[in-house]
Amino acid sequence: MNTSPGPINLFEFEALAKERLPKEEYDYIAGGATDEISVERNRRAFESWALRPRVLGNVSALDLSTTVLGTKVSLPVLLAPCGGHKKAHPEGEFATYRAAASFGTILAVSANASAPFEELAKAATGHLWLQLYSFRDREMTKSWLSRAKEAGYEALCITLDSQWPPKRERNIRNNYKQTRGVNYPKAGPGETPAPGGADPAATWKDLEWIKSQTNLPVVAKGIMTGEDVELCAQAGADAVIVSNHGGRHLDNTLATIEVLSEAVAAAKGGIEILLDGGVRRGADVVKALALGAKAVFIGRPLFWGLAVDGEQGVTRVLEILREEIEITMAKCGRPTIASIDSTVVVKAPPL
Ligand SMILES: Cc1cc2nc3c(=O)[nH]c(=O)nc-3n(C[C@H](O)[C@H](O)[C@H](O)COP(=O)(O)O)c2cc1C
Repeated sequence: MNTSPGPINLFEFEALAKERLPKEEYDYIAGGATDEISVERNRRAFESWALRPRVLGNVSALDLSTTVLGTKVSLPVLLAPCGGHKKAHPEGEFATYRAAASFGTILAVSANASAPFEELAKAATGHLWLQLYSFRDREMTKSWLSRAKEAGYEALCITLDSQWPPKRERNIRNNYKQTRGVNYPKAGPGETPAPGGADPAATWKDLEWIKSQTNLPVVAKGIMTGEDVELCAQAGADAVIVSNHGGRHLDNTLATIEVLSEAVAAAKGGIEILLDGGVRRGADVVKALALGAKAVFIGRPLFWGLAVDGEQGVTRVLEILREEIEITMAKCGRPTIASIDSTVVVKAPPL
């Protein structure tokens, strides 16, 4: 009889997924830009904040629910837009969406998804956001905006940090050929670059233009400075995701948790601030909330869940995070998300 509890934390999920995935797919998902300093820093920087335990706060009934852009979620953890879930499981985004919907959280579907985004919207009754770029072809951007609305997507996530391709050395070494998302039109004969992809010439005017073309909330993703938070707000964005793309685009940036306070200060309470990058423990989630994030996203862990056990694997990843968030909230004397404030954390001096 197998009595193994299976992976008990997100690191063990990654280890098991690594055994199951082809090396080049594992490397594509786990890897980052050049020396992967930012990948590592996103993780390590969470350690530079310590929790301040509090006792006797009646934590008998914990409520992890909160809202993101007015949508109620069962916990402050959302699934980040990531291309090609089929790399990790044949059911791909369909499995992820069912897990997110039954758990009561939001899936942001990538522009590079391996599922047609309109079909996916029919797979469950949950909350979906669509991620896109300011495409080279404005007509294509316009058509995605209206198709997203029509299909029932509730917000648009515009990824702004991908105007220039990164250098990912694992992929170069593995001669990795990235597959094209199924939602892009096929390239015409001799058409270079193929349609899709972020426009390297895009400016703040393009973000303003996107906002003017839709009545869905616009979430600007890939912001790492207070200056850019202010410009996002001026362009009409409803929320910002503090993100360095999980260290996959520009290496040598600060960790996202390190720039969160700067972003929150620049938002002046006007727009919601979300965060992704290296979130692997419930304590990371609580620290991000204490520093002013409304919620966080996980990227790579959703692939580890899919690779280990499809829909059930993603559900288990979310359950583990929920259990760890509960422990952290209880031991810091915070029964609700609203009660998590800046006094939950303190900057830990270097050892
Ligand atoms: C395999 C993979 C594919 C990704 N594809 C996209 C994408 O298509 N669009 C996007 O905005 N971000 C993409 N991301 C970045 C995630 O949205 C997110 O910013 C990042 O994964 C968060 O860091 P974490 O993986 O440490 O949780 C991708 C990330 C991974 C790991």
